Amino acid sequence: MIQGPSCKLEDKNKACCSSEKTSAEEFSISKHWDQAYIQSPEEKLGWYEDDFSPSFRLINQCQLDENDSILLVGSGSSRLPDQLLDKRSFELWVFDISEVALQEVKTRLGERINYRVGDILSSDTLDGIPSVHLWFDRAVMHFFMEESEQTTYFRNLKEKVKPGGYVIFAEFHLSGADKCSGLPVFRYDEKMYQERLGDEFVLLDSFLHTYYMPSGQERPYSYALFRRTNTKNNFGIYNP
Ligand SMILES: C[S@@+](CC[C@H](N)C(=O)[O-])C[C@H]1O[C@@H](n2cnc3c(N)ncnc32)[C@H](O)[C@@H]1O
Repeated sequence: MIQGPSCKLEDKNKACCSSEKTSAEEFSISKHWDQAYIQSPEEKLGWYEDDFSPSFRLINQCQLDENDSILLVGSGSSRLPDQLLDKRSFELWVFDISEVALQEVKTRLGERINYRVGDILSSDTLDGIPSVHLWFDRAVMHFFMEESEQTTYFRNLKEKVKPGGYVIFAEFHLSGADKCSGLPVFRYDEKMYQERLGDEFVLLDSFLHTYYMPSGQERPYSYALFRRTNTKNNFGIYNP
C-alpha cells in the first residue's frame, strides 16, 4: 500500500500516514480520482496516452544528466515514468492525490521510482522531496479554478524547482473543452503560464497539440517548456 497524503514510504507506520483524510474537501477530491481509476481500464481513461512524443519534444530540450530529479505532478497511472526510465536512470518522483493510480504504477515499476500520495495544493505536501531539475504537469493544474489555488500551486512549484531547472505544462488550451473527468477546468495558453511563473522563468518552446481521447473526441492542449534562470543579481533577482 502507498501512504496517504503527504506521507513518505518510510513513514508508513506513523500516525500521520493513516488512510483517513484530513479534510472533507480533500477526501472528496481523492475519492473522485480513485473512483475514476477504479471504474475505467487504463486505456479508456479520457487522458490516456500511448504516444508521448509531444512530451518528449519538450523533455528532450532539457539538459538533464544521469540521476537528475524529475517530479511528475498528478501523474496518475501514466506510463511516462516507464518511458523516462527506458531512456536514462533519473531520480523519478510520481505524485498524485489518488493512491489507486499510484498503486497501479507501483505494480509496474516497484522500487525503481519514488511515490507520494498527496494534494499538490497542501502547503507541506512536497516536504522530503528534493528540489527538482524538471517539474512536469500534464492535465493537473487546469483543475485549479480559484486564484487562491493557482497561487498555492505556483508557490509550491517555485519552492521545488532548482535554479536552472525546467517546467513543462500541458493543460487544456483556451480553445479546448471546459471540463475534464467531469470537473470544470481553467484553460491556458503559454502567456498565461508565463504570467503566473514570472520573469524568473524563460519560455523555451510552446505549441498546441490536439490529443484524441479514446472516444475519438479532440482535446487541444497547450504545451510549454520554461527554464528557471540560474543566478541572482544584486537585487536578489535570478538572471539568465
Ligand atoms: C486528467 S488526470 C492526468 C493524469 C496524468 N498527468 C496524465 O497525463 O496521464 C489528472 C490527475 O491529477 C490528479 N490530481 C487531481 N487533483 C490533484 C491534486 N490536488 N493534487 C495531486 N494530484 C491531483 C488526479 O488524481 C489525476 O491522476
